[in-house]
Amino acid sequence: MPLKAVVFDAYGTLYDIQSVADVTEDAFPGYGEIITQVWRIKQLEYTWLRSLMRRYQDFASVTRDSLAYTLRVLGLACDTETFARIIDKYLHLDLYPDAATALAALKPRKLAILSNGSPDMLDALVRNSGLDRLLDATISVDAKTIFKPSPEAYMLIGEVLGTAPDEVLFVSSNPWDVAGAKSFGLNVAWIERVTPEAMALACVANELVAPLTMFKAIRTQMDELGFAPDHRVRSLSELPGIA
Ligand code: 2OP
Repeated sequence: MPLKAVVFDAYGTLYDIQSVADVTEDAFPGYGEIITQVWRIKQLEYTWLRSLMRRYQDFASVTRDSLAYTLRVLGLACDTETFARIIDKYLHLDLYPDAATALAALKPRKLAILSNGSPDMLDALVRNSGLDRLLDATISVDAKTIFKPSPEAYMLIGEVLGTAPDEVLFVSSNPWDVAGAKSFGLNVAWIERVTPEAMALACVANELVAPLTMFKAIRTQMDELGFAPDHRVRSLSELPGIA
């Protein structure tokens, strides 16, 4: 079946979630890295916990709650203005440098985002980064009130784009998202940003304690869930070679 659409995860795949570190470090000098890593780990954890608890709240709320958790456990008092400034970075995350060029090279296939992000967050992010000029659709799981990797979330791709699962290449750097999309039946490309070799070097260099190393160890390596991607690439710019 020829590929009709390429659908991207947003956070960590097209947009660099580590780019919040500038703002967190500016707000709390010396704490930027640990805030950044604990925040993202808790943000994802809350999406899964809320889905399992059947207590959905949108990603904007989960993102605020996980930041509040992070600052509290680190003993950091935060005024409303500073909190809002940190959260606002989620609407202005850095694009990976190869993202716009890779998307343009994948035309004329339909291009879309399927993200856990809430519609307001995604619309602002896509507009602020200029990707609205390249994308045919920005799909939020909010319509299903459950987060990826629930199959109901991936179902939205077909419902919005009118495609069958085998006509879609789904692209994510998040291993849990790769497993979810593959289990649902999509073709999947994993952007393997952190190689096992780089991981091993980071562990030795940082003596296993740096927060970023901890994040890489638990959120960037492929999971043992029985679902592997169809393609494994190191950057978005390699996608035109496989799609
Ligand atoms: C997404 O964009 C949370 O990275 C995840 O759906």
